[in-house]
Amino acid sequence: MSNHSVQVSDSATNKSVSLPVLSGTIGPATIDIGKLHKETGLFTYDPGFMSTASCRSAITYIDGDAGVLMYRGYPIEQLAKHSNFLEVAYLLMNGDLPSAQQFSTFEHEVTHHTMMHEALKSFLGGFRHDAHPMAMLCGMIGSLAAFYHDSLDIDDAEQRRLAAVRLIAKVPTIAAACYRYSIGWPNRYPRNNLDYCTRFLHMMFEVPSEPLVLPPVAAKALDLLFILHADHEQNASTSTVRLVGSTGANPYACVAAGIAALWGPAHGGANEAVLQMLNEIGTADQVGKAVEKAKDKNSGFRLMGFGHRVYKNFDPRATIIREMCHQVLNELGVHDPLLDVAMKLEEAALKDPYFIERKLYPNVDFYSGIIYKALKIPTEMFTVMFAIARTAGWVAHWLEQNVTPDAKIGRPRQLYTGSPARDYVDIAKR
Ligand code: SDX
Repeated sequence: MSNHSVQVSDSATNKSVSLPVLSGTIGPATIDIGKLHKETGLFTYDPGFMSTASCRSAITYIDGDAGVLMYRGYPIEQLAKHSNFLEVAYLLMNGDLPSAQQFSTFEHEVTHHTMMHEALKSFLGGFRHDAHPMAMLCGMIGSLAAFYHDSLDIDDAEQRRLAAVRLIAKVPTIAAACYRYSIGWPNRYPRNNLDYCTRFLHMMFEVPSEPLVLPPVAAKALDLLFILHADHEQNASTSTVRLVGSTGANPYACVAAGIAALWGPAHGGANEAVLQMLNEIGTADQVGKAVEKAKDKNSGFRLMGFGHRVYKNFDPRATIIREMCHQVLNELGVHDPLLDVAMKLEEAALKDPYFIERKLYPNVDFYSGIIYKALKIPTEMFTVMFAIARTAGWVAHWLEQNVTPDAKIGRPRQLYTGSPARDYVDIAKR
């Protein structure tokens, strides 16, 4: 919806153009620059997309200054308190909370798509045991396109939906299989009598020789972490899924690309990097040194789990996870000295002008690793956990993109800084 316009004029060519301003339901309006190049010959330049909206979406809304996060209009705090991950996945995909019947049908369908093709187990055998689980997950998810030919036609709504359900259902199974392969344990099949998170923990930790006894708080804590990580607007990995999806690639390739993007330490890989950082700092009395090092541009060191492109206030997810840390560790009877280090680090950074001026606050990754560690999830699996949860958001955006009427292939332009035209010089004359 456009209710006014902005004028752009180029003093070099005296060309000008009136560009419509588009408003959404809430949040910043956008300048539709679609005809800018045609009318003026100019491109816009916005590396990192600091001020660029790449698409229309009705899925998630973030207000970085106010620290607001909503999935389909529902505040994350309310979903964290009242919902569960599978219901949130349904909400993200379908736009509304399910009725009891709709949820039961969805849960039954997901539950009955959790097994992975037996041939996929031989893929694992091709990896070194010490392969990073994100490397294995990325390869395994991309390979699903080789198995599920009945859900590759992206022009068929039912095939799109089936692919989305399969991905939500199978990513935990494959993730657990990657972990068990890395420690030399036999594979565990998904058990349909368990809920989504309990089933995953069983696939991760149950050994054939004895039944697994899980503390009740474990599955609940994991479910809450999955809700908090399920979606986050046009973050790097979701934007990657959309860009790959814009070429008409199949959903398994799109999600595999999202997994690859999430792996980076500036993005989902930060949760693993936070634990490494806290271990390197070691004790609370070393926190001051770490803060000083993070302020020194030449150190190449950043406080992992701090800062955010959008949140210039507390990341609401970090607030919830911080509170959860204390509750989960108390219920598990775990005292993790790294939590003391994390709290001291947060306290020191939030008092420091460097962090205050740059509005750097703890983000979703700062505390999540403390809980994963208490649940005995190994550090190298932390980003895999993020990927399991974010699969719900990735498939929701992929589904939305495939029903967006003006969706085009994503093909940005550039500011060229290379050589002007020049003639080839024979090697004898160089
Ligand atoms: C996620 O986009 C999403 O929504 C992502 C995510 C999701 O749910 O999908 O929320 C998940 O990826 C969370 C972010 C996880 N990453 C980290 O925790 C890594 C550490 N943080 C950063 O590297 C950084 O803060 C980013 C990548 C998160 C944001 O980077 P920006 O927005 O490009 O900001 P920037 O790098 O330009 O930093 C601005 C300034 C710079 O200083 P100046 O040049 O102004 O002097 O702040 C400094 C930076 O040097 N800075 C930090 C810092 N983060 C930014 N300094 C020290 N420690 C940090 N962590």
